[in-house]
Amino acid sequence: MPEIRSTTDEDLDVFLETLHAAFARFRETPAEGTGFWWSALEMDRGLLAVTPAGRPVGTAAAHSFELTLPGGTLAPAAGVTAVGVVPTHRRQGVLTAMMRHQLAEVRARGEFLSVLLSSEAVIYRRFGYGPATYTGRLTVPRHQATFAVPRAGEPAATGSIELRQRAECGALLEEIYDRYRRKQPGALSRPHHWWASGAGQPPVSLAQRHIAVHHDEDGVPDGYAAYALSEATTLTVDEIITSDDAVFTALARFVLSHDLVTQVVIKQVPPGHPLRWQLADFRTADVGDDGDWLWVRLLDIPRALTSRGWFTDGELILDVTDPFLTEQGRYLLEVRAGKATCVRTDREPDLSLDVSDLGSIYLGGTVPSTLERAGHIRAHNPSAAALADNLFRAERDPHCLQWF
Ligand SMILES: CC(C)(COP(=O)(O)OP(=O)(O)OC[C@H]1O[C@@H](n2cnc3c(N)ncnc32)[C@H](O)[C@@H]1OP(=O)(O)O)[C@@H](O)C(=O)NCCC(=O)NCCS
Repeated sequence: MPEIRSTTDEDLDVFLETLHAAFARFRETPAEGTGFWWSALEMDRGLLAVTPAGRPVGTAAAHSFELTLPGGTLAPAAGVTAVGVVPTHRRQGVLTAMMRHQLAEVRARGEFLSVLLSSEAVIYRRFGYGPATYTGRLTVPRHQATFAVPRAGEPAATGSIELRQRAECGALLEEIYDRYRRKQPGALSRPHHWWASGAGQPPVSLAQRHIAVHHDEDGVPDGYAAYALSEATTLTVDEIITSDDAVFTALARFVLSHDLVTQVVIKQVPPGHPLRWQLADFRTADVGDDGDWLWVRLLDIPRALTSRGWFTDGELILDVTDPFLTEQGRYLLEVRAGKATCVRTDREPDLSLDVSDLGSIYLGGTVPSTLERAGHIRAHNPSAAALADNLFRAERDPHCLQWF
């Protein structure tokens, strides 16, 4: 079995060669000024799997993010990334060994949450991760995009839109994004060095984009839309960032009003977003590419449950198994006035569940009774699943649009 060792800055080349080989790719040369995604890597959080003969065969890394929990708590979270095993060494337990090593390191740093985006949905559940946020893409034929809401005379965003280019935005996008992510459950921080080095997908990368910046009536920027024409007459919006629904609507109206455009594709929209309901014809916006986005893994259950905010009083006994870390615990979760306590108990459980299912319901984006009906979660009394549905809800659907 290969040895798993931590990396340093000096390992960057071998790390990238190994990772690219795992994805059957070659290192691309980004267009001038757009930045390399790997410049965001924290090489002291990288892992290399190396055979006894000294050959590197696997990689994994982690970013130090903050994750916004329901109720607005900002929790440190390891953002697992750059995971790959070269094709000659697959299905021999290399990833399993790296995951074990990494989870131990994450815990040792005091992080109680680990998150990732999964290339294939079958890989990570066995390591305790569950899908926790969902996202999709709206495609709207421009000529049918009549807004019915807000109706004439009803309050809309009062402000103005200024058009800029990505290259002239400086710290502006970073500031708007940072304000937004602090209020949005499921959102991740975008550390300053990501923006500074253009490491990420547009508009974090410096690839050319038009940026519509919304300013409130006092001139304070409170939202943006990043977009470009992706095909002859298709306008693709990478993201609309704001925590104000009226500003979102104003920016959506703006991108949907472009002449010479037949359709607008808005990427990274949360499943229950109100935009579809604002159009005169509910079927105008076609929902596509919808699926899981952020996967969550709990590493300290009492700390994770007491850190998030809660919106309904209640009491549940959860019996949680963690087969990968060979752990098991029964916890009494009590919520009073928005705060939870969580202690070990010997009482009979209301629900039995795997730690990956707890990861799925943790941010309020997966309904516990859906997992109960699917046979993942076991309810030991008739009201337990409904109570969990009420209890685990967030103030709004969690959403993450950070690529890493
Ligand atoms: C995904 C990947 C890292 C797995 O590495 P690996 O070393 O082969 O994984 P392991 O041998 O530790 O597998 C552990 C278990 O997961 C299963 N598994 C792992 N990857 C799987 C996949 N892609 N599809 C189905 N099952 C998979 C294995 O069959 C094994 O099951 P078992 O314990 O029942 O035998 C590797 O296939 C890879 O590099 N793929 C291409 C890049 C990629 O997708 N990376 C993930 C980015 S999020």
